[in-house]
Amino acid sequence: MTRDRPISPLAKQLVADIQRGGFNDTLALWGCLPGQCLLDLPRTYDLLSIIEATTEKGGTAVDLGAGTGVLGFGYLAFGGGFVYMVEQNEAMVGLLKQKAEELGFADRVEIIEDDVRTIELPGPVDYVLAELVSTGLLREPLISAAQNIRAEAKDALYLPTDAYLGAELLNRSGMPLTEVQRYAHVHIPTEDALHVDSIVRFFLPLGGTPEFLRLHTSLGHPDGTISGLYETLCSPLELVLSWKDKAQLQFDPLHAGQDIPVHLAYPFGGDSQDVVAEIIDT
Ligand SMILES: C[S@@+](CC[C@H](N)C(=O)[O-])C[C@H]1O[C@@H](n2cnc3c(N)ncnc32)[C@H](O)[C@@H]1O
Repeated sequence: MTRDRPISPLAKQLVADIQRGGFNDTLALWGCLPGQCLLDLPRTYDLLSIIEATTEKGGTAVDLGAGTGVLGFGYLAFGGGFVYMVEQNEAMVGLLKQKAEELGFADRVEIIEDDVRTIELPGPVDYVLAELVSTGLLREPLISAAQNIRAEAKDALYLPTDAYLGAELLNRSGMPLTEVQRYAHVHIPTEDALHVDSIVRFFLPLGGTPEFLRLHTSLGHPDGTISGLYETLCSPLELVLSWKDKAQLQFDPLHAGQDIPVHLAYPFGGDSQDVVAEIIDT
């Protein structure tokens, strides 16, 4: 979902400047998710346009999982005063230092090589930039990172502010059998739970045999917009369903009009194999 807003010249310039110099060599070192994220331009320009619309002049931000630094550098380019960039990958930290110099931001950035889940921020922040997001809030530690820095970000804006998690059931060929059902709304600044554990009920309008669960995620932002479905952010994720009664799967397709209760449980930041997605009773 891209925005209607035109891409600002500042945003275009920033993305081009980050790509200049040793960028490609550094990113090639480790196959590089942050590099792919930067080059997912609909994602990158949408996030920059939100930051441009919401940055207060002279404020302080933290960029959690800074990667190429595009969000934190964007904050500075749009009038922010100072940014802490936290990144655990050594190669990315080297790139961030080089880019901070090249972009003329070196005296407005503190680059911290550390784990976002345990770091103690040096001071309070007005804005939390945290594109530590994978579909279903799996794989990346957004929630534990937000919980960890919460005390230093009492009245801060958060990007993203909300995550809306939904799922649908698919048959063996990957055809949807149900509508997408929301199973969680996570308000990032205040979320206390570190896991999902719920019974999600799906209505099967035409019958069939569900074999997969497809997770969907969309994000709410501090400018009031909602987005999702980028190549590197919030793309759908398919998981194999298990059944409490396996025999039923082979011999007895479910009937039109049935309700299918699925037990869906996993830790935020966990991996796909940590997910319990089990049809519990039909
Ligand atoms: C999806 S990338 C996003 C990069 C950048 N913020 C952007 O939007 O383009 C996530 C980044 O977070 C970093 N990261 C993941 N887990 C981390 C952790 N526990 N502590 C610090 N950095 C982490 C990864 O190394 C990666 O650079």
